[in-house]
Amino acid sequence: MFENIDKEKLPKHVAIIMDGNGRWAKLRGLPRIYGHREGAKAVEKTIRIANNLGIEYLTVFAFSTENWQRPKEEVEAIMSLLVEYINTKVPKLIEENIKLKFMGRRDNLPDMILKTIEEGEEKTKHCDGMTFIVALNYSGKAEITDAVNKIISSGKKHITEKDFKNFLYLPDVPEPDLLIRTSGEQRISNFMLWQLAYTELYFTSTLWPDFDEEEFLKAIYDYQSRERRFGKVVSK
Ligand code: IPE
Ligand code: IPE
Ligand code: MG
Repeated sequence: MFENIDKEKLPKHVAIIMDGNGRWAKLRGLPRIYGHREGAKAVEKTIRIANNLGIEYLTVFAFSTENWQRPKEEVEAIMSLLVEYINTKVPKLIEENIKLKFMGRRDNLPDMILKTIEEGEEKTKHCDGMTFIVALNYSGKAEITDAVNKIISSGKKHITEKDFKNFLYLPDVPEPDLLIRTSGEQRISNFMLWQLAYTELYFTSTLWPDFDEEEFLKAIYDYQSRERRFGKVVSK
């Protein structure tokens, strides 16, 4: 599979909706949190594969603003998994020159989470290899609404699409070229609504904890077979 990938045509930015942790656990008669734990291992592998391939930006959807509506125990378990994950993985990210970034609403995040996030960003800010973005307490509608409120506060009366982008959470990050969603669901679930305008979508029925190198390469290979037209006519 690896040899089939055209290194000249890699997506610059890959975004992933990591879905199916709960079903993975359920299939094994385990509590949902086991699925999240196994999902964290899949994230780890995915970072390595993306970095080795030469992907410049990797974004993963870890927790949506809607996910707070899940049972309290599940939310707490996901949050402590996140803190543990960031704290233990940051040294490895630094070693591999990977910059960690968070994308989401920061203002209503528990202090402990915010502190961990900001420390992770601070410690990796000098890294200039791949950028690894964790979407946390994120929703596309919230991001757009926050942008509009920032525009209102700035006193601007008129805005262009280019200006608008500057008010999003991570204005310097290029839009995703490829979006992967696992678990068989074929929806966006409020992810990066602005940025996905021309992104290639790839859906796989594999549950997130089972996502591996072969799956990732399959998605990249599929992406490379597509013709991105951006509304234009492509002459052959
Ligand atoms: C994705 O897996 C992880 C989060 C949304 C936090 P799910 O927990 O949504 O797993 P399913 O969809 O219930 O199987
Ligand atoms: C999307 O998955 C959010 C994350 C992967 C973090 P969900 O499991 O929350 O989405 P729905 O509810 O199936 O649309
Ligand atoms: Mg789900």
